[in-house]
Order: sequence, then C-alpha cells, then structure tokens
Amino acid sequence: MTAVVRTAKAWREARPAQGYLGFVPTMGALHDGHRSLIERSGQENDATVVSIYVNPTQFDDPADHARYPRTWDADLVLLETLGVDFVFAPEYSVIYPDDGRFTVQERGLSDRLCGPHREGHFVGVLTVVTRLLNLIRPTRAYFGEKDYQQYLLVRGLVDAMLMDVEVVPCLTVRAADGLAVSSRNRSLSEPGRAIAGRLFEALTTLASVTQVRSVLEEEGFDLQYVEELDGRRFAAVVLDGVRLIDNVPLPHSREADPPLH
Ligand code: PAJ
Repeated sequence: MTAVVRTAKAWREARPAQGYLGFVPTMGALHDGHRSLIERSGQENDATVVSIYVNPTQFDDPADHARYPRTWDADLVLLETLGVDFVFAPEYSVIYPDDGRFTVQERGLSDRLCGPHREGHFVGVLTVVTRLLNLIRPTRAYFGEKDYQQYLLVRGLVDAMLMDVEVVPCLTVRAADGLAVSSRNRSLSEPGRAIAGRLFEALTTLASVTQVRSVLEEEGFDLQYVEELDGRRFAAVVLDGVRLIDNVPLPHSREADPPLH
C-alpha cells in the first residue's frame, strides 16, 4: 500500500527512521519517464517517496499552471503497482507557509538556455526543490536528464547549500521515434506528433548546430534555441504551439576536440 501524506507534520511522523530513502519529485501526470526514476529509486533504496505537486511558482503563465494535466487517480494506481511506499501530495500552504516570501535564485546557468524563455521558472524550481528536500530529507533524489539544465541547477544547489543528499541523474526515456516522453506530448496534433521525433534525430545525427537549426526550421519547428554547452547539445522548439525541449551528449570525439584558441 502506498501511504498518502499531505502535511509536513504527517511526513515527520511517517518518515522511516532508518535505511536509505529515495525521493522522486514530480508534478504528477505520471508517464514512463517518471516510472523509470521511481523504479530506479526502488532498486537503490529501502523506501521510496514520490511527491506530486504542481508547483505554481515555476510557471511563468498562470494559465499554463491551470491547464497542467492532473491525473491523481491514475497516478496513485501506478504508484501502488510500482510498490512505492509514500506519496507526498501537499497543498500550497504546506510548501509555502511564508506565501513565497523566501526564494532561491541562482545567477549563472539559469540565465542561459531555457532561462530567457521562461521568466522566473528556475527560481520557482530551485525554491520548491529546496523546500521539498529540507522536509523529505532523502538519502538520494532522482532527476531526469530530459530536463538537464534543471538537473545541473539542482546538483549545484545541493552543493552550494551544503545539503546532505545525493542527486542522481537518470537517462531520458524516449518513444520509438526518439521523442522524449513528456506530459506535453499529448497536446501535439497528429501531424505535429508525426514529425516531433525529428528533433532528437537532428540533434544526434547532424554535425553542427547551424545544420540542426536549418533542418528543423525547414521542417516547420519554431526554434527557441539550439546550443552546445559543456559537451551537450540542447534545444527548445515550439511545434503547433507545444513547447518541446531535448538534449543529447555530444560524441566523445567532438568533446575531445582541442580548444580553438
Ligand atoms: P516533472 O516535469 O513532473 O518531472 C519530474 C521528473 O521526471 C524530473 O526530474 C524530470 O526530468 C523527469 N522526467 C520527465 N520526463 C522524463 C523522461 N522522458 N525521461 C526521464 N526523466 C524524465 O521536473 C519537474 O516535474 C519539476 O520541475 C519538479 C522537479 C518536480 C519541481 O517542481
């Protein structure tokens, strides 16, 4: 049985006193990407807690927050099937007892890639992740490489704030055509879905960022950015009004290229 925990007090009482505790923070609408993180936590820990909280402070558009899919019943069935010990499903006042007066801001990486396209997003993410980690106090916390910039920022946060938790990156789960699994994919039109896999294909097969840009533009993607940073290639595109992000590691041969200067 998965125990449903809704308040800080209830969690402090329910938290296992011993053993390794794995934590998978999510916003619900669970899919195969989340499932892989949860399964990994189950393998590596004595107990697993999954949080489901659609964090309002990380949405730059309140309409986007209202529209975010909420599938509590199906989520709970999946968590039961996976043998998850606890689901933490707080209300706003549990996570934000200060009504959001205190925030966590990084200056650097959060101004790159997705940062300029999603005002305040990473402040919202880092603020909620700080609060969740402080309350849950897990041994390990699992994050998907699908949101690689988020993973890097959380890892940086934990190091900077001297938090006693291991941040574990997990490989991106993809559909057969390479499209990274995401709750947003269900909003794609049929023709949009038919070409969405080209994003991953272009990122992995083309030699330069310039080529990736021109191929994707030709195929009807609106580009927000295609960029290489720290041995990875990142992109954010809009297809039929649906924003998709992805990133892939660059092949070693290219990473090993000598610097230009
Ligand atoms: P959410 O979008 O629900 O994602 C929860 C976790 O699942 C994140 O670590 C994300 O990277 C991972 N994930 C999503 N799709 C994935 C895929 N296809 N393969 C592997 N992992 C995948 O990310 C958030 O929620 C929020 O920002 C959160 C961290 C919960 C803070 O509110």
